[in-house]
Amino acid sequence: MEQQRDKFNLKEGVSYINCAYMGPLLRSSEEKGIEGLKRKRNPFEVSQEDFFKDIAVVKELFGELVNAPASQIALFPSVSYGFSSVLNNLSSDGKTEAIVVSNEFPSGYFSAKSWCEKHDCNLNVIEPQTISSRNQKWSDDIIASINKQTAFVLISSVHWMDGTKFDLEKIGATCKQLGAKLLIDGTQSVGALPMDVQKFQIDALVCATYKWLFGPYSSAIGYISPSFEKGIPLEESWMNRTNAYDFSLLTNYEDAYVEGAGRYNMGESNDFIKMPILIASFQQILEWKPAEIQAYCQKLVQPIVAFFEENGIHIEDEKYQAQHLIGFKLEGKFQSEQLFEDLKVAQIFLSFRGDFLRISPNVYNTEEDMLKLLQVLRKNLIVA
Ligand SMILES: Cc1ncc(COP(=O)(O)O)c(C=O)c1O
Repeated sequence: MEQQRDKFNLKEGVSYINCAYMGPLLRSSEEKGIEGLKRKRNPFEVSQEDFFKDIAVVKELFGELVNAPASQIALFPSVSYGFSSVLNNLSSDGKTEAIVVSNEFPSGYFSAKSWCEKHDCNLNVIEPQTISSRNQKWSDDIIASINKQTAFVLISSVHWMDGTKFDLEKIGATCKQLGAKLLIDGTQSVGALPMDVQKFQIDALVCATYKWLFGPYSSAIGYISPSFEKGIPLEESWMNRTNAYDFSLLTNYEDAYVEGAGRYNMGESNDFIKMPILIASFQQILEWKPAEIQAYCQKLVQPIVAFFEENGIHIEDEKYQAQHLIGFKLEGKFQSEQLFEDLKVAQIFLSFRGDFLRISPNVYNTEEDMLKLLQVLRKNLIVA
């Protein structure tokens, strides 16, 4: 894959290596969003069918991205909403604990914590080890912690601070074997890394779309497995009932929800601006293919990884380290204040999260962006 900067409207001269913060809008998505906005000029052109059309396409496309049927996909306004929808329908069944990892993103952490408080269960927070194979050991420790008392494991597919790639296949298999649910926050990987809810035996996957999925803000999407099919949604949208398609019959109140995960869709889910944006973005990602995007990011970060290795900054093997999101600790290795100043002057955008400086490129980044970053890193390295 070649760099794709011309597919975006990014400002000239800026090295935006911060997709983990917010993905830029694709030109194609921007156009579709504006068209969607303009439709409101003439409401008489919006038909009843239009209230259900685009969302159906969004579900198909996202299903293709994560290997799930469209019927099991639901739209939410946020990740926290998605997790609450699922956890509200999970009983403890005599189990006594849930598992998260340390520094999990707050939307997931608080969802798990609140469930534990409600069900009088223990929240087991798995810490990483400070050894060279930290990421691999972290997955091993999660797996070793799952037992018959575990109600669920809630983790991100890729840790949002340092890009640890959890071994979802083994974690999923262990969850299934011991009767625990696996709930995944895919926000920091879906779009840039292949995802397969069947292979990983995931019970619920929730992703904010405004990062690696090039979606708008206030938009999340997820897969909810058939095991939650009888659940109670957070809200009672008319759109999720089987009679919603005929507006003249809406008050023939229909108790039945639409099939699959349809009951969990947020109200007014077929947003006339956001859905066209998502369609264009998902189509583009599917055309590029997440595996190719990952390979492109690997090529981009290669000189940085080599520089880290030369200077004793450990980065894990690709199996346990995302290539589109690499967090490294500055501690003792870099002149932090000057580094931040130089990044600013060079118009290089990264994020600092926890103890980690986070490099998160995507297909609009170029070799030049990375060489510019390398130069700044080299300049601020504290030579022992
Ligand atoms: C891992 C992860 N999950 C979720 C979110 C966003 O959560 P929410 O949609 O609840 O605001 C972010 C935002 O940075 C994130 O990094």
